[in-house]
Amino acid sequence: MKRGKLARALVVGAALVTVGAAYAVLAPDNASGADGPQSDQVEQGRRLFAVSCASCHGLNAEGGTNGEGRDTGPSLIGVGAAAVDFQVSTGRMPAAQPGAQIPRKPPVFTVDEINALAAYVASLAPGPAVPAEESYDVSKATQEEVVRGGELFRTNCTACHNFAGRGGALPDGKYAPTLMTSTPRNIYQAMLTGPQQMPVFSDHVLLPEDKRAIIAYVVALQQRDDPGGFGLGRLGPVSEGLWGWLVGIGSLVAVAVWIGAKVPRVHRGTKDD
Ligand code: HEC
Ligand code: HEC
Repeated sequence: MKRGKLARALVVGAALVTVGAAYAVLAPDNASGADGPQSDQVEQGRRLFAVSCASCHGLNAEGGTNGEGRDTGPSLIGVGAAAVDFQVSTGRMPAAQPGAQIPRKPPVFTVDEINALAAYVASLAPGPAVPAEESYDVSKATQEEVVRGGELFRTNCTACHNFAGRGGALPDGKYAPTLMTSTPRNIYQAMLTGPQQMPVFSDHVLLPEDKRAIIAYVVALQQRDDPGGFGLGRLGPVSEGLWGWLVGIGSLVAVAVWIGAKVPRVHRGTKDD
């Protein structure tokens, strides 16, 4: 009896899976016909979006609210492919649950799927495109570029991300994350799209070559090994404070020793006169 039921359920399940698979294989062909690979991609993105993103961002990415009228996700009209690529490739999206800040996590979509989602959102309204590889490829960066990037980084980024790119706390339980694991592509996109509290650094504010210099600098920081046990100053505000304190006390001690050593000599000097 029980077994018969189970078998029937299995047959029905298998049939459903087969129909679903057949639909998945056949539907794109029917839907897009001769429109070419581009609209195939947009269509694939639209379908992924409906399943994974629409619950918060609305079925047409117009933004969503829950039953109590609270926002569940902002409108994505005009955020551009770069914002989608950044948010999904860093695993921030799809968000799991609301919170002060949506953390990065391993991405849940493949590169193809991310491209499709980005193409779909970009098809809704113009917005920043995913940057071309040569605009963030810093494998051949010169030393001058790294130095210039360091200056730009200190002017524009250290206030939130700390002078060594290790991140820092912001008000209301938010934080600027460490940049030590960010890819060059994501660094460019973060500047271009300004997630959360981060300002947008458009290509007019920071020219593409400025962005490249900053990326070259961050990559140099990532590659720089801590020499021996002196990583202290790069761990965040607390150890920075400690470091400052040690240096401060250290110099006070040095001055005291110096004065101590100096005074008798001065005395001797006046005696000799
Ligand atoms: C559980 C709800 C939820 C889901 C599901 C979700 N999002 Fe979001 N999304 C949010 C919220 C909330 C924000 C704003 C948070 C922030 O500012 O960091 C956001 C922000 C974004 C942004 C940044 C917009 C901007 O102005 O830069 C993009 C892009 C985005 N989501 C894309 C997606 C995509 C694509 C998916 C599906 C793969 C998705 N989201 C799934 C809630 C969600
Ligand atoms: C006002 C504070 C602020 C400034 C200034 C700022 N950022 Fe950010 N940045 C943030 C915050 C907050 C986030 C996290 C956003 C989120 O989680 O959605 C962030 C995220 C990032 C990320 C993503 C890291 C990751 O975890 O994937 C990168 C890369 C980045 N910023 C680079 C920069 C660079 C480069 C500059 C300077 C040109 C800069 N930021 C300036 C606040 C700032």
